[in-house]
Amino acid sequence: MIVNICPDYQEMSRQAFAFLIEKLQFFLSQKDRAVVVPSAGSTPRLLYRLLAENSTGQVDWKRVIIIQMDEYQSLPTGDAGSMAHDILSHLIEPLNISEFLLFLDESGALSRPLQELDAMIKELGGIDIFVHGIGENGHLGFNEPGSAFDSQTRIVELSESTRRANSRFFAGFDEVPQYGITLGLKTIWKARTNIVLASGPKKREAVNRLILEPKNVDLPASILKDHPDSHLFLDAEAAGEELVKRFGVMENEKLAGGNG
Ligand code: GLP
Repeated sequence: MIVNICPDYQEMSRQAFAFLIEKLQFFLSQKDRAVVVPSAGSTPRLLYRLLAENSTGQVDWKRVIIIQMDEYQSLPTGDAGSMAHDILSHLIEPLNISEFLLFLDESGALSRPLQELDAMIKELGGIDIFVHGIGENGHLGFNEPGSAFDSQTRIVELSESTRRANSRFFAGFDEVPQYGITLGLKTIWKARTNIVLASGPKKREAVNRLILEPKNVDLPASILKDHPDSHLFLDAEAAGEELVKRFGVMENEKLAGGNG
């Protein structure tokens, strides 16, 4: 896992942007279409804005297929708290992407049986790039602690810590659905490239555990520790002193790509 520590959130987003553009260009030079899974949530917001504002001409978005990472169970796609609404409004609509797969429809019902989605991903030739945030408890998507490393797309019960962290997207804690839908850790593991973004002190513990602990199911993100192409983009606040000392902070002008 390659660790990139940036001075702040803006620079982290810019570095991740440059890196993602390179990766998209690479995959689109190798195959007809690139399959991308972008996480919802606040961390990748600026990255998505940079893509919306600066990527036309660099990436042919007509050749990119978007698959949803996770969603709250039964939340209609039009609901402002839904993850579909988040990626539609911040990424899919601004980039005019016409091919995308969402878990649920406008009534909140499953768009298709969940196993069918795994089969569709296989037919598409697998996922090229995941863009992840990370939960305060180390989750990826809604793969909560304890999720099996070979888990597939499924409905999961959300932990209290996840519901509390995400209550900011709802009127209050009680409004946060108790169940979610997520692509599984096996699908993440099989992807060609995984990019993880983490910003701010609330993510420091998860990020430090990810780097310092061995791979273990109590920390779902640790599945990426020995993934062949996984890249962590942190800001200095998420990294904390110890990791900053160990990896250093990237210079602003240095291109993303890793510090080993
Ligand atoms: C949420 C979602 C993830 C997201 C992560 C971080 O619970 N399930 O898809 O990446 O937690 O979210 P944020 O970037 O808002 O902190």
